[in-house]
Amino acid sequence: RYYPDPVLGVRCHSLGLPDDAALACIRRMFELMYEHQGIGLAAPQVGWNARVFVVNIDIEDHDPASERVFIDPQLTHPSQPPEEGEEGCLSLPGLRLAVDRTPQVNVRATGIDGVQFDLESDGILARCIQHENDHLDGILITARVSTLQRISVDGVLREMRDDWQQREEES
Ligand code: NI
Repeated sequence: RYYPDPVLGVRCHSLGLPDDAALACIRRMFELMYEHQGIGLAAPQVGWNARVFVVNIDIEDHDPASERVFIDPQLTHPSQPPEEGEEGCLSLPGLRLAVDRTPQVNVRATGIDGVQFDLESDGILARCIQHENDHLDGILITARVSTLQRISVDGVLREMRDDWQQREEES
């Protein structure tokens, strides 16, 4: 789903333990993410209202050992000054924006096996986790940038809204 699809702007529901349908959906999310050269994908981006996201920061080889599934994640982070870094989003094709994120983040989530786990992350993984977790609260990177940046991409966003509107009318 692409901006400004309404599913991207809502707070998603908890999933709980994944059943077979949820597992199939999670599998499909990995496929779509690889197809579009992403390192993370959140459930609302495939039209699924659930607090789930998948990550694989091994963009070259898609090593299955690097696949991570986060169900009903809860984020905490040590108090640190945020760092700016460039991010893209599969729901905002072509846009790259500088976003402030905490350099480290701790996650508690349910894994694909239904077992709760804790993960400490930093670097690109920490940035990706914060980006994907934002999706579960209906927050896109366009809401995380400076006013100046937002103004600079205003035209691109308007085009995306027009395209989306046109596709809606055609379907
Ligand atoms: Ni995104």
